[in-house]
Amino acid sequence: ASYEAGEHESFMRKEILEQPTTAQAVLRGRLDERFGTAHLGGLDMDARDLRAVRRVKILGCGSAYYVGQMGAALIEELARIPADAEAASEFRYRNPVIEPDTLYVAVSQSGETIDTLLAVQEVRRKGGRCVGLVNVVGSAIARECDGGIYLHAGPEVAVASTKALTNMFLAFALLALQLGRVRDLSIADGKRLVAGLERLPGQIEEVLAGEADLVEVAKDLAEARSLFFIGRVRGFPVAREGAQKFKEISYRHAEAYQTSELKHGPLALIDPEVPTVALVPHDELAERNVGALHEIEARKGPLVVITHEDVDLGEVSARRIVVPRNEPELDPILLNVPLQLLAYHAAQHLGHDIDKPRNLAKSVTVE
Ligand code: G6P
Repeated sequence: ASYEAGEHESFMRKEILEQPTTAQAVLRGRLDERFGTAHLGGLDMDARDLRAVRRVKILGCGSAYYVGQMGAALIEELARIPADAEAASEFRYRNPVIEPDTLYVAVSQSGETIDTLLAVQEVRRKGGRCVGLVNVVGSAIARECDGGIYLHAGPEVAVASTKALTNMFLAFALLALQLGRVRDLSIADGKRLVAGLERLPGQIEEVLAGEADLVEVAKDLAEARSLFFIGRVRGFPVAREGAQKFKEISYRHAEAYQTSELKHGPLALIDPEVPTVALVPHDELAERNVGALHEIEARKGPLVVITHEDVDLGEVSARRIVVPRNEPELDPILLNVPLQLLAYHAAQHLGHDIDKPRNLAKSVTVE
C-alpha cells in the first residue's frame, strides 16, 4: 500500500500523530513484565556477551545523534556502563580507538546515511562489535551491523524525523534495560521501567490531544529571529533536538544550551526579542532550573516552559506546557513531543514547505 499524507496537511503532522501507534510497535513482544527486562533477539548477544560490555559508543547523524545522547544517558543510568554518543560524520574522519569490549551502536532511520555507514565499516574493520538501531529493514547499515533492533516506525517521509526518533529512544530504553538487568539493575527497578514503557504510548496521545493549546505559542515563537532551547542532564539532548527541529523547518536561528551554562555566556543575549524554550521536568534539578528562569525573566526574555504539573514555577511568568509524568528516566520522550508540535506549527504559520525544507535531504547517501 502506498503511504500518503491523506487528510493531513503534511507528512510531518501525520507522522507526529501516528506516534501512539508506532511507539507500541517497537515495544511489542519485547517487554518482559515478569523479570522486568527486555527481549531483543535481533541483537544476537547472550547474557555473557551483554555482561562483557564495558563501554557503549553511539554513532549517528542529525536527530539520530541527539537521540544517541539521550540513549547514552539512559544506558549510564540503568546499566551503569560509561556511554556516550558522537556524530558519525566526525568519528569516521578521525582515527578512533576501537576497543573489543565496547559495544558500538549505529542509529539511523533510513539505514543509508553515508557518514553512519562508513563509521560502522570502520568499527568492524578494526574488530569492534556494532549493532544497529535502524528503521528501514534490510538497509545498508542494517546489513553491515552484527545485529540490532528494528524500530518498526513504518515509513517516515518528512525530512524532520519524529516517529522514528521516538522509537529510537524506546529502543535505547529496551537496550538499557537488558544491559542493566544482567548487571546491577534490580528486578523492582526493571519492573518499574517496563510498566513505565507500557504507559508511554497512551501518554504520548495525551500530549497530542493538547495540540490546539500550542498553536498560539508556536506562532509567537515563529516571529522571533533567534531563540534558545535549554535543558540539563536528561533534558539537554532534548533541547538540542528541539532546537534542531525548529531551525530545520522554520529557518529561525535556534540554539540549544545547558541551563546550567546560561550564566557562562548566553545570558548576555537575552532580551525581549529572544525567547527561551525551557525544559523543566519534575526531577532533582527542578528547583535550580526554576532559578535559571528567574535570571531570564529579569532580562525580560519571553519564556515557554515544558514541565510537569507539580513543578512550582513560583513567580515566574511563563507560558506553561504541561506533559504527563512517567518514570523520570523516560522523561525525554514526553518532553520532546511538544517540541515537535511547536516546530511544526511555527513552520506552518510561516508558510514553509514543512516536509521538504530548503537545502536539506531526508537521507544524505552520497559524499
Ligand atoms: C539527514 C536528515 C536528518 C536526519 C539525518 C540522519 O541529515 O535531514 O533529519 O536526522 O539525516 O538520518 P538517518 O536516516 O541516518 O537517521
